[in-house]
Amino acid sequence: MRKIILTGFMGAGKTTVGQLLAELTASEHADIDSEIMEEQGMSVTELFANFGEQGFRDLEHQKLKEVVAKEAIISTGGGIILKPENRRILAEEYPVVYLKTDPAIFLERLKGDTTRPLVQEKTPAEIQAIFEPRIKLYEETADVIIETDQLTQIQVAQAILAALESGK
Ligand code: S3P
Repeated sequence: MRKIILTGFMGAGKTTVGQLLAELTASEHADIDSEIMEEQGMSVTELFANFGEQGFRDLEHQKLKEVVAKEAIISTGGGIILKPENRRILAEEYPVVYLKTDPAIFLERLKGDTTRPLVQEKTPAEIQAIFEPRIKLYEETADVIIETDQLTQIQVAQAILAALESGK
């Protein structure tokens, strides 16, 4: 059983790598976006449309508080680092792993995406403008940074476990 929080921009692979880590370590997997969608009975796009981004961020904060209370591999949404209260939670005892992905790669993965309201109908330059001010926050909140670009998702999961074993 392991406790790990995965952060990173949209399209970094947090959900898939979280599932793989949970399998590798026989741990529970908590995906914040999926749990919110299931509880609210709405997609993230519908949640943004009905409650606004702020409403979604409040649900995300509540869910983060709830999932850190248990032992799990936690996949966050890319905006988790925006709220100072969330950053305080990330600074607590859970190891935080930032999946660092080159913009060229996440822009390619986000092309034509219909599930993420912040990137819909946005140009690559506009998406990059959402990412840029977040870089500092991803880096500041991370205990470990894994560069994912040259790795498969299983290699990312293995690299995370190796880094945590050698460090914290
Ligand atoms: C968001 C990322 C999404 C989701 C929402 C907002 C963001 O999660 O929480 O669309 O602000 O970066 P993923 O990072 O899993 O795509």
